[in-house]
Amino acid sequence: MTQRLQGKAALVTGAASGIGRAIATRFVAEGARVLVSDIDAAAAERTAASLGAAARANRCDTSDEADVEAAVAATVEAFGAIDVLVNNAGIAANADWAKTIAVNLSGVYYGLKHGGAAMAQRGGGAIVNISSVLGLLAIPGAGAYTASKHGVVGLTKQFALDLAPQGVRVNAVHPGWIRTAMTDPIASVEQIRTTIEQQTPMGRWGQPEEVANVVLFLASDEASFVTASSYVVDGGYTAH
Ligand SMILES: NC(=O)c1ccc[n+]([C@@H]2O[C@H](COP(=O)([O-])OP(=O)(O)OC[C@H]3O[C@@H](n4cnc5c(N)ncnc54)[C@H](O)[C@@H]3O)[C@@H](O)[C@H]2O)c1
Repeated sequence: MTQRLQGKAALVTGAASGIGRAIATRFVAEGARVLVSDIDAAAAERTAASLGAAARANRCDTSDEADVEAAVAATVEAFGAIDVLVNNAGIAANADWAKTIAVNLSGVYYGLKHGGAAMAQRGGGAIVNISSVLGLLAIPGAGAYTASKHGVVGLTKQFALDLAPQGVRVNAVHPGWIRTAMTDPIASVEQIRTTIEQQTPMGRWGQPEEVANVVLFLASDEASFVTASSYVVDGGYTAH
């Protein structure tokens, strides 16, 4: 069977763990070369090493524009191109306003700005932004996170519109409750874990690989007429 990202070069931010690691893993399995980028350099090295010769590690704090620009350049330097960018790095809902906006919103903006420019120059590419169901609705006490993830939807539409003439597609994914290091602190409290299961029509938490499957579609040529769209991967949570 043809690999769905055969010959593509990809940059995935926040790829050392959780959803980002699942995306990088799936991309490599589908024939891509992947720059596994993360603020945690040692963890990025471990993840890249586990993926073999098609993966390289990179240290990048996405809240630092120069770091993001350098990560895009490092992808081109390592693989000769950047065809796919996943703006995945993010921090949880318990951080303060400035930090949350810096990582979850400005970080995505820097990726779109520099990754989009590099792709436009080469004549095309695909960018996937990881938002959240909290980019579509709110829950109590998550103001900065909710604002940042709603902002990602706006950036997705704006850059999709601006980059369409250059052949660059930009889409967003809204994961629901997914078991990762980010959600471990709440998933380990039985009452919260089961409440979330009850609020999710499919009756369970999602796995990082289930998000990666949708990101793969949007990153691949199968999504050739899909841009400025948002895909919900939440077991029905937002319909509840
Ligand atoms: N887990 C969920 O339920 C869930 C739901 C909706 C959206 N999301 C989003 O999915 C994305 C991935 O989250 P996850 O659950 O895999 O979390 P995670 O904590 O397992 O992984 C996040 C990764 O991002 C890295 N990171 C943090 N700050 C960074 C920065 N400034 N620059 C670069 N890397 C940085 C971390 O080191 C880590 O490796 C985030 O954007 C998160 O908001 C997660």
